[in-house]
Amino acid sequence: MTINDCKLINLPKVNDPRGNLSIIEQNKHVPFKIKRAAWIYDVPGGENRGGHAYRSTEEFIVALSGSFDVVLDDGRERRVVQLNRSYYGLHIPQGIWRQMGNFSTNSVALVLYSTEFDSSDYIRDFEEYKQTEK
Ligand code: TYD
Repeated sequence: MTINDCKLINLPKVNDPRGNLSIIEQNKHVPFKIKRAAWIYDVPGGENRGGHAYRSTEEFIVALSGSFDVVLDDGRERRVVQLNRSYYGLHIPQGIWRQMGNFSTNSVALVLYSTEFDSSDYIRDFEEYKQTEK
């Protein structure tokens, strides 16, 4: 996998004067079966999250509120994707180094995962990551 395999995916947006609604269905709007969801919030100014890669987990990240940057790195190239709308998200396949930062005040990041939690699926050392088979 390379950073070019990380794709922004538009989600359905049901516009409504009462307030808009967006939807995520597994295997339809995200290309995997959703096993887990987490959300990141109350991030203090200047903090970064998630400097790591997964051996087998795929992710889909949505800025439900506010904005933040996702830094993608495959060991060769680096790309920064800003997420700032709740009607699209970023699909990150397994094996991509990613970090999140530049969180705006009161931002909320929703993260959907293709696996159940397993700490052994993480690669948290960038030098080790660069040595892994891509
Ligand atoms: P981590 O995935 O490193 O968060 P981020 O990528 O946003 O920085 O997780 C932070 C901590 O939370 C870590 O100790 C593991 C724990 N955690 C779980 O126990 N279950 C989960 O599903 C997730 C995502 C994290």
